[in-house]
Formats: sequence, C-alpha cells, structure tokens
Amino acid sequence: MPRNHHRNHLNLNLISLSLFLLSTLLISTTPSAQASIFHRTPTRHHNRHTPYHTYNYKSANTNDTELFSSTFTSTHLLQLRNETANLFQYAWSNYLTKGFPYDEIKPIQCKPNQPDFEDIENKVRNDVMGNYSVTLIDNLDTLAIMRNHTGFKEAVELVRSTYTDFAIDTNVQVFEANIRVLGGLLSAHLYASDDRFGMVIDGYDGFLLRLAYDMGQRLILAFGNPDSDIPYPRVNLKNGPSGLPDSLMNAQCTAGVTSLILEFGLLSRLSGDSIFEDVTKDIGRKVWGMRSKLNLLPMTIDIRSGQHVDKFTGVGASIDSFYEYLLKYAVLFNDDEFMTMWHDSYRALLTHSQDSFGSFLNIHVATGVQVTEWIDSLAAFFPGLQVLAGDIPNAQLNHLLTLKLWNYYGSVPERWNFDGQRSLRFFQHLDRPYREGDLADGFDKETTDQLLFKNSIGLEWP
Ligand SMILES: *[C@@H]1O[C@H](CO)[C@@H](O)[C@H](O)[C@H]1NC(C)=O
Ligand SMILES: *[C@@H]1O[C@H](CO)[C@@H](O)[C@H](O)[C@H]1NC(C)=O
Ligand SMILES: *[C@@H]1O[C@H](CO)[C@@H](O)[C@H](O)[C@H]1NC(C)=O
Ligand SMILES: *[C@@H]1O[C@H](CO)[C@@H](O)[C@H](O)[C@H]1NC(C)=O
Repeated sequence: MPRNHHRNHLNLNLISLSLFLLSTLLISTTPSAQASIFHRTPTRHHNRHTPYHTYNYKSANTNDTELFSSTFTSTHLLQLRNETANLFQYAWSNYLTKGFPYDEIKPIQCKPNQPDFEDIENKVRNDVMGNYSVTLIDNLDTLAIMRNHTGFKEAVELVRSTYTDFAIDTNVQVFEANIRVLGGLLSAHLYASDDRFGMVIDGYDGFLLRLAYDMGQRLILAFGNPDSDIPYPRVNLKNGPSGLPDSLMNAQCTAGVTSLILEFGLLSRLSGDSIFEDVTKDIGRKVWGMRSKLNLLPMTIDIRSGQHVDKFTGVGASIDSFYEYLLKYAVLFNDDEFMTMWHDSYRALLTHSQDSFGSFLNIHVATGVQVTEWIDSLAAFFPGLQVLAGDIPNAQLNHLLTLKLWNYYGSVPERWNFDGQRSLRFFQHLDRPYREGDLADGFDKETTDQLLFKNSIGLEWP
C-alpha cells in the first residue's frame, strides 16, 4: 500500500472550484495510507542553530487570535480568503526563487526537495515527486483561482521553457502524477483557452494539452499488467512499468486504481483520443463489481491476483477519492452509470458507516461492524463532496467534527482516536515488543501514552 505523508500543500484542480477557498486547505485526494499519528509530533528542541529563522511569513492583516476566534461571519470569511491568498503568494514566490526547477521547496529549510535517487524504494519521497517541477505544474490553476493573471501567464511560460515532454528517468506513482501533473496541465489548458474564466492567454497555442497528452501516454502504460486488469501503481516516465522492483509493484489501493477517470476522461474529450477514458471507465466498473453485498469496497488490491486482500473500508486514506471521482466524473460528464454507482456507494456509507455525529467510521465490508476507533485527516475532504452531492445537512454535521478538531489542535491530526479509553490500552493491544516508530520520536513510553491520551481527548458536542 503506498504511503505518503507529504500532502500538506494546496492541491487545487478545476473540479474543486465549487468549494469555497478556505476549504481547499482541508481537502486532499490522496488515497495513500497514513503513518502513525506521531508523524508530525514536534519533538526537536530548537537551539541557537535552529534552521527556522528563514520562516518569516507574517499575516498581513491581522493576528492569529483575531483570525481564528470569530465564527464564520462574512468579514471573517473575507479575512480568511485574504489570508489564504497571502500565504499562497508567500509559498509560491519562495518556491520560484528557491525551489524551482525541483519538485518542492522544503518548508522549513527553504531548500529544494527532489526524489530520492539513491533509494528508489523510498516511497515517502518518490511517490510525491518525479523531478518534474511538480509544484509549478500543480499550482498553475491555483494562480488562476487567485485571479492572478500575470502570475498565471508567467508560470505557464515557465512550463513552456522547461518542458517539451516528460521523458524523464524517474519512477512516479501513477495516481500522484495523474492528479498533480496531468490534472494541473489540463486545468491550466482550460483556463488559458476558455474565455469564460477571465484567464485567457493571448496567443496561447495549446501546448499544455500537448504536454498533457505526452504525460497521458506515459501513464497509460500502467494498464499493461499481464496478470490482472488492475493497473500498476507506478511507472518509469521514460521506460514504462518494466524494470521497477517488485516491492513497488505488488499492491494498489482502491482509490489509486479508480481515481484516474476525471483527468483521463478530460484528456480523451480534449484530445479526441478515447483510449484514456475507455480504460479508466472499464477499471472503474470492474472495481465496483468487486463490492461486497453491502455495496462497500475494501481498500487494498493485490495487482497479481486482481483481488482485494483486506476487508475494511471507510472514507479516509486508500479509499477516499474512489467516492470523489465517482461523483465528479458523473457531474462533469453527465454520466448516469457513474451517478448510480455514486448513489449506491454513498447510501451504503450512510447506512453502515456513518455514526451519530455524522462522521464515517472504518468498518468491515461484509458485516458493517466497526473495526477501528480512529478517523484520519484525509477524510476531511468528504464534507465538500457531500455539498457537491447536495446533502447539506450531513455535510454540515460531518464538517463540524473536522472544524472542532482544527480548533482544538490548531490543525487536523493525521489520525484522531475518538475512544479515549482505548488510547490508554493502546500498547497493550500490541502482542509484540516496542519497535522503532511505535513511540513518538524522542519520547519514552509514558510520555507517548500521555500524548496518545491527549490525541484522543473527547470533544464537546452541542
Ligand atoms: C490580537 O487580536 C486580539 C483580538 O482583536 C487583541 O485582543 C490582541 O490584543 C491582538 N494581539 C496583538 C499582539 O496585536
Ligand atoms: C489583504 O491583504 C493585504 C496584504 O496582502 C492587505 O494589505 C489588505 O489590507 C488585506 N485586506 C483585508 C480586507 O484584510
Ligand atoms: C533532476 O532535476 C534537476 C533539475 O532540473 C536536474 O538538474 C537533475 O539532473 C535531475 N536529476 C536526475 C537524476 O534526473
Ligand atoms: C501574482 O503573481 C506574481 C508572480 O508570482 C506576483 O509577483 C504578484 O505579486 C502576484 N499578484 C498578486 C496580486 O498576488
């Protein structure tokens, strides 16, 4: 199962436009599994050599108390929007000056970040980067959404002067390359060429679509798996899927397999080459055919047997964007078949997974029995999807939980354990000794237990 902990950037695409700006901070489409809840626990003590001095962003219009203490009045919403725009511009200009042409800028050291070429099995880094300036391409549409025409035009020109194709000798995770690079190019192409958005670039010749087509042709090679219909999770952009080690090619998550259809579908419609939409629609139907009697899908697929190897489901990591792509594909392409799949799967969630607070629990696909006592941060996107589906009451209820978590912790924890009692017993559940990674970095068992307890604190409900 792919693991990925680096999805803390803004990841906007055209389809997300309908969601109000602030909510983009909470939205992620990553299907990847999450690490332990300790992953982002701050542990290192700052000394006088602290590298943090380079972080100098200060809110331009207010202080944090002011910004976060009111309810969502219209003034407050405007402030938050302004704050989001300022923060984006800060990150963006630093990426351009200190990160580009590499994939990312390290937010604390302010240095470029690139794939781990030494250890190609380092999924944490290599699944999110491809040495293809991913931050640049992924954020073209963010500049358009920010209504920064100058910035958008400059960034598009930067893509033109840097890339003529993607014949790059790197292994990329197909899902990530799809949502960020293919999706980024396609939405930028639409902004640059469709005058309804106010972002048209004079003299634009469609080169972003040509680049997208080039990327699509490289990613679609993942569908050449001879053992089952399930596509490979990763490909080498230059050499295709052969030659990657087994450890990178054995399993896919349900979301990873089914979350290509929006971008591939759009690529087919724009390029006139139907193969992209055909293969992803077929795999969508195929995976939906693997559902349980309760209309629920497990999360992990062995790509040799083509079968699921677990029995659990929910709306977070590994399954999240399965739901998202069903509905968005149905809306974008007016597709009744996928709309029915969305309705059936969402109804199954409401029936079997939704709890009395409106959030969705991880359950067994055959019995509907609850299997974990946590929810993960990636599930925070789901209220936005419920809004798109028109289910406002459930969206509000579900969003309230994320909002309360945000208010309590100052952000949404990777995982939040809602059973305070269980956290005290957490390590007693392990039938093996401690090993690295169990304990919060730099903390002993006692402190870790306390942290777990804190991370499981009950919330007050209205
Ligand atoms: C921040 O805003 C709050 C509420 O308006 C105010 O009480 C406080 O004095 C401000 N703090 C600073 C450092 O300006
Ligand atoms: C928005 O941010 C800018 C700084 O970029 C600031 O000058 C302006 O006053 C802010 N506007 C509002 C309404 O807060
Ligand atoms: C990665 O990209 C950088 C910047 O474009 C380039 O200098 C470098 O050669 C690339 N590395 C590999 C291994 O392709
Ligand atoms: C638009 O983007 C450009 C390039 O990054 C930047 O210089 C400019 O300040 C941005 N404009 C606004 C209004 O944020």
